[in-house]
Amino acid sequence: MTAPHTISNPEKRVRVTFVPSGRFVQEMPGTSLLETAARAGFIIETPCGGNGSCDKCKVRVVKGKPEATEIEHDRLTAAELNEGSRLACQVSVDHEMEVELYPESLLSDHHKILMDGMEARGKLDPVVSKVYFDLPPSDRRLPKSDLERLMSAIGDVRVGLSQLRRIPSFMRKNNWRGTAVIADGSLLRLEPGDTSGELFGIAFDIGTTSIVGTLMDLATNNELLAVSELNPQITFGDDVVSRILRVRDDPEALVELQEAIIGTLNGMIARMTERMRISPNRIYEVSAAGNTTMQQLLCGLDCSALAQVPFAPVFSRGQRFQTDKLGLHLNPDALLYVFPQISGFVGGDTVAALLASRMIHRRDTCLLIDIGTNAEIAVRRGDALFATSTAAGPAFEGARITNGMRGRIGAIEKVVIDRDVHLNVIGDARPIGLCGTALIDTAAELLRHGYLDPLGRLVSDDDLPADTPPSIRRRFIGEKSERRFILAFEDETGSDNDVALWQPDVQELQLASGAIRAGINIVLRKIGITADELDEVLLAGAFGNFIRRANARRIGMLPQVPGDRIKFIGNSTLLGAKLALLSQDKQEEAETIQRMAQRIDLSGDADFQREFADAMVFPDGDLDRCRDIPTFAGARENAIVVPAPPE
Ligand code: FES
Repeated sequence: MTAPHTISNPEKRVRVTFVPSGRFVQEMPGTSLLETAARAGFIIETPCGGNGSCDKCKVRVVKGKPEATEIEHDRLTAAELNEGSRLACQVSVDHEMEVELYPESLLSDHHKILMDGMEARGKLDPVVSKVYFDLPPSDRRLPKSDLERLMSAIGDVRVGLSQLRRIPSFMRKNNWRGTAVIADGSLLRLEPGDTSGELFGIAFDIGTTSIVGTLMDLATNNELLAVSELNPQITFGDDVVSRILRVRDDPEALVELQEAIIGTLNGMIARMTERMRISPNRIYEVSAAGNTTMQQLLCGLDCSALAQVPFAPVFSRGQRFQTDKLGLHLNPDALLYVFPQISGFVGGDTVAALLASRMIHRRDTCLLIDIGTNAEIAVRRGDALFATSTAAGPAFEGARITNGMRGRIGAIEKVVIDRDVHLNVIGDARPIGLCGTALIDTAAELLRHGYLDPLGRLVSDDDLPADTPPSIRRRFIGEKSERRFILAFEDETGSDNDVALWQPDVQELQLASGAIRAGINIVLRKIGITADELDEVLLAGAFGNFIRRANARRIGMLPQVPGDRIKFIGNSTLLGAKLALLSQDKQEEAETIQRMAQRIDLSGDADFQREFADAMVFPDGDLDRCRDIPTFAGARENAIVVPAPPE
């Protein structure tokens, strides 16, 4: 096959440089400047949803000024236009440019969102704290017990027998100086010297497919490092149900599943602490949020009851354990907080996402969707809070998709189809597969052009629209289940095969998208509203960050609400886990959410199967192709971002 005119070819890209950082990206022509900035890791404010009415996305094009649009002429003064000011939402990148970003236009990354949230909601107040003490030598005229003397410096605390046994020798050996580590009113440990500035914790988001951990400095409220890993339990089954059944059928599997996750967490802990040169011994607190199955497997709790009605979890309220009981390689006295669980299928990840989104503080009507292998869905209206979770499956992670892969180097992450196919490939590499966003993009683009019908069939050669260009026509190959649409031909890829969307892949996408949409529809119905009445849709989750919302609406996965009502809130499960790590109040709030939330177990809902079947059909007709707003939380790891040269 000869090479098609894909713009994945680097020569066809244009360079956009952002100043003052100097960071630049090679961009596909026609891409919105908002998306280009996001690809470089700069998130620009878009309160109006990119319709050109808020002026919040103002930037200055220093070199390569594009023609101003009608909207820009309306919104900006002649002087502003002359000096290069433009609205990022109105600029299409089609030639080389240099763009100055104004700090006030930047939303910043989700670390900023976390810190904003903490400012808004209270002080840094972790469960574990440290107090340095420096006592005078004991005085024979004022004889006091060792414990009394210690408490005179650190305040009243409960002291267990093991710590009490250590106090006399510690005090005398260290000349009555040291640091007391206190958790929840109890003395955890005494450390020699002043270590009050060395207090660290780790927040984990334990997903069915992947795990993300963030090392936090609990003394300064700083995020130090984040790492991610695949959940090793995937070898036992790629969804929660298969892992539950594995435990039910083979009790030994529970130990294996727990050992697998603990081993991976220990590996992540070692990576983070080595990289930041921090002793694991200085880590005193860990928070973990995951779905009910993941949390129970982490704790080594039997999850077989989740396989049968009424799908009862082992615990509902948040739990606190000593981490050494689980085999985590941290300070032996470190504590693990595991999030409260709403039900067997509405777990700690949903509670964490609700905590991060501040849903219980809102008075408007708001929908939260956190997309992962399981999608968490919640709606808040008035005093009511409904939550559910639906098994979207691992299609968005590339599993069960013929040429599917996760979002790493070589993955096609964006697809645009016009007279030909244009691709963005992570790392600017030759494509070797497609990740979840490209799966959605491809289906949405094929639907728009009439190359895919609402039932999810790639149309036959005879049924392709009469005006289908030859460059597109030649990409359709095969019949029935072998029918496919080639995104990159063999000689353009980094593998020995074409990269294509195959007919069975479309069905996998329909299952994933349909499950999410059916869950949304049922939750909206329970609370008695339609999608039109939603004031805001909060899109969360690591994958959700990268979705092009117009395309997610085109395939029916998201409701047809205006783009400016859909907001990105980052990886909310991880954000919730971080909040709980940093603040006891937030742990209390998580408990409140658990008590307030009314659960909907979709498996027991009489309407679910019908809704699911309906939602698997792609919306018909020529739906609004609105300008999409990027939702990136930052540049993808190894994306086509080229770092700024050293100063
Ligand atoms: S004017 Fe509002 S986002 Fe551009």
